[in-house]
Amino acid sequence: MQKTFQNKIVLVTGGSVGIGRSAAEAFAREGASVVIAARRENEGIAAGKRIHAAVGKASFVRADVAVEADIAAMIAYAVRTYGRLDVVFNNAGIEGKLGPIETVGAADFDAVFNVNVRGTWLVMKMPCHI
Ligand SMILES: NC(=O)c1ccc[n+]([C@@H]2O[C@H](COP(=O)([O-])OP(=O)(O)OC[C@H]3O[C@@H](n4cnc5c(N)ncnc54)[C@H](OP(=O)(O)O)[C@@H]3O)[C@@H](O)[C@H]2O)c1
Repeated sequence: MQKTFQNKIVLVTGGSVGIGRSAAEAFAREGASVVIAARRENEGIAAGKRIHAAVGKASFVRADVAVEADIAAMIAYAVRTYGRLDVVFNNAGIEGKLGPIETVGAADFDAVFNVNVRGTWLVMKMPCHI
């Protein structure tokens, strides 16, 4: 039976641990070639190796979705490695500082917004033909 993501190229931001890693593994089980992106290299490389060992094809690229140049390089890596990009799971995100609103500064707000909102927006607008 044809798998759901057979021959699809899937990018999972924040795919190195947690929900993103589980999602990356699920995409690979369903036939996708997966590009995992995150800031920490050791965790990202380990996540790629887990997929290689168990279910399918994956590779890691270091990228901070708060940094536009990193996003361009991340997309370019996916296209260079697999020829194109079909699906993006914008999973990368941070919780930020938690607490009563008077204890959370504008810089704390900006840090969360830059990753969770601006980062997703930048990833989705980046051309896939770099
Ligand atoms: N777990 C929950 O209950 C829950 C609830 C609501 C929403 N969420 C959201 O669901 C997503 C996954 O949650 P999780 O619990 O699996 O989180 P997690 O365990 O903290 O993992 C977050 C992932 O995102 C990556 N990441 C963080 N900042 C990044 C950045 N600037 N650029 C690129 N990658 C970045 C992390 O890797 P690096 O640190 O190496 O970059 C990691 O791979 C997050 O967006 C989270 O906000 C989670």
